[in-house]
Amino acid sequence: MPHKQLKRHDALQPLSREHFNGLVLARRLREAAGGDAEAGRRALRELDAAWRNELEGHFEDEERLLAGLVPADMERRLHDEHAAIRTLAMRLLRSSPAASEELTRFASMLQKHIRWEERELFPAAEDAATEEQLAFIAEHTQRVERDRPGARKHKSGVAPFRPWDPGSSDELSDAGGRP
Ligand SMILES: [Fe+2]
Ligand SMILES: [Fe+2]
Repeated sequence: MPHKQLKRHDALQPLSREHFNGLVLARRLREAAGGDAEAGRRALRELDAAWRNELEGHFEDEERLLAGLVPADMERRLHDEHAAIRTLAMRLLRSSPAASEELTRFASMLQKHIRWEERELFPAAEDAATEEQLAFIAEHTQRVERDRPGARKHKSGVAPFRPWDPGSSDELSDAGGRP
C-alpha cells in the first residue's frame, strides 16, 4: 500500500528542521566513536555546542508545546527519553576522552528518539491540536527560528546552520551567502 506523503504542519517545521540536524549529529558521533582520541574529543566539543545551541531548548519546547496534546503513554515516553538522553549527554560531557560505546549509545538513542517523534509524536500532536493550539505553537516556533538558526529554512545556496559545526553559517550574520 503506498504511503501517504505526510507534510509537517508549518507550526512544527522549525522543530523538524532541528531533527535533521540531530540525525546528522548522531551520524557524526557514531563515526567519531570508531576513530582515534582526537576524533573523540572533537565529538564531545560538537555535542557540547549542539546541546547548548539547540538540543536543550528543543527538548524544553517539545515538553512545553507538545506533551500535553498527545496520549498519556506518548507523553511519558517523551519525558522518559528526554531524561535518558539528557543524563547520558551530561555524563559524556563530563568525561574525557569519551568512551566510544557511550558515544555510540548516545547516537542511537538520539536517532531512535527523533525517528519516533517524526513518525508518531508529531503526527499525533498535529492531529490532536485545535487551530488555536496550532497558532499558539506557531507563535512560539517563530521565536525558535529567530533564536536558534538551525531551525530556520535556509535559502538556496546558503549552507544550513549546524549548531555543532564551528564553520557553519548563520544566515542572519551571513546575509551575503556563501559560495
Ligand atoms: Fe524530543
Ligand atoms: Fe525532537
